[in-house]
Amino acid sequence: MKILVIGSGGREHAICWKLAQSPRVEKIYCAPGNAGISQLAECVPISAMAFEELAAFAKEKEIGLTVVGMDDPLIGGIVDVFEEKGLRIFGPRQNAAILEGSKAFSKELMRKYGIPTAECQVFTDADAALRYVEDCNIPVVIKADGPALGKGVLICETREQARSGIRRLMVEKAFGASGNTVVIEEFMTGREVSVLSFVDGRTIRIMDSAQDHKRAEDGDQGLNTGGMGNVSPTPFYTEEVDRFCKEQIYQKTVDAMAAEGRPFRGVIFFGLMLTADGPRVLEYNARFGDPEAQVVLPRMENDLLEVMEACLDGTLDQIELRFKDEACVCVVLASGGYPKSYETGMPITGLEAFRGKSDFLCFHAGTAKNESGELVTAGGRVLDITALGRDVKEARSKAYEATTWVHFRNQFMRHDIAKSAES
Ligand code: AMP
Ligand code: GLY
Repeated sequence: MKILVIGSGGREHAICWKLAQSPRVEKIYCAPGNAGISQLAECVPISAMAFEELAAFAKEKEIGLTVVGMDDPLIGGIVDVFEEKGLRIFGPRQNAAILEGSKAFSKELMRKYGIPTAECQVFTDADAALRYVEDCNIPVVIKADGPALGKGVLICETREQARSGIRRLMVEKAFGASGNTVVIEEFMTGREVSVLSFVDGRTIRIMDSAQDHKRAEDGDQGLNTGGMGNVSPTPFYTEEVDRFCKEQIYQKTVDAMAAEGRPFRGVIFFGLMLTADGPRVLEYNARFGDPEAQVVLPRMENDLLEVMEACLDGTLDQIELRFKDEACVCVVLASGGYPKSYETGMPITGLEAFRGKSDFLCFHAGTAKNESGELVTAGGRVLDITALGRDVKEARSKAYEATTWVHFRNQFMRHDIAKSAES
């Protein structure tokens, strides 16, 4: 079967890498892809948001399955466009991708169906929001309703921060229309874990747990990023947490979406906070995490194509997911300045050291070839250095060892990825 993967980051590289292992996959295309992905797939220069052009390409090349890695095309309705043309595509339709696309929607869903999450209020009027933060508990969390590249979440430690946050989102429109509605929610404390799952509309199958490291600097300091590293599994996701989430969160979410006439087919990513009162949903995403996919897929033993097809065919109940006992750690090598502004076009060296070492993987997050064919940086997150090991300690030590093999100017990373998970 011919496959088209949509996206251009480390997550899509991991998806292409895993799909390439399926005996039924004969060729992979990736739009737009990146330099690392081009070693496994033919990259096609079509934007992930050019739905008609992508669908025409899929028709012309007789693509058997399109897999969407990124959130924006899902939220924008790429699945509906493909399905209308009779093309098979993995991911939720637009009416289900709203689970990620609108925080007001997801909070209301959780309230209606009794799924544990932070208490919240939704506002469309800036004055009402400003009045509310005059006597709510502090700290408080203010979230733009719509997508804001992960930057639309403001943790406000003081009332003045809350006031200025509301003004930035709702009046100055720092994230455009995404700030027309805001969710103001209770601040929660605890460990965060990421749980990815496959869903076929009715059945849900959990991929093992993972733990993101969202802040740019060691010790969870600095700005929020897309994720500076990840580890799977995490010891904080205990059997007790798993049992609670299976009873109170996972199936309830799938059933709620079906009951709302929005059956979800694809990947639901549960962002969970393990509070003293038990697990709570921080957020839902309608796709694989990045870099969660980079640590979960190398541990998965199943054929990814088979699992994705079961999601589309409604036969996921016949699939058991199997994961290696090994742990996997991914350390992101980023470009100086990320998540703010950073340079691109810097030559990258040393990647040949990964050749022939099956425990070590280098997924490309933001790379390109320049005019002279040299591998150069092309994003804030550049490389996802990933290693498998007997346990987290070994995987972590191997991943950090591999970070010393590669070089580009102004590279930086966190030094404490997976440290808290070593126990
Ligand atoms: P979200 O995009 O909703 O996951 O938020 C991004 C990050 O903000 C999360 O990973 C948390 O670290 C933090 N966050 C979001 N909501 C809350 C909350 N209610 N309490 C504490 N931290 C939060
Ligand atoms: N790593 C977090 C995300 O993909 O949203």
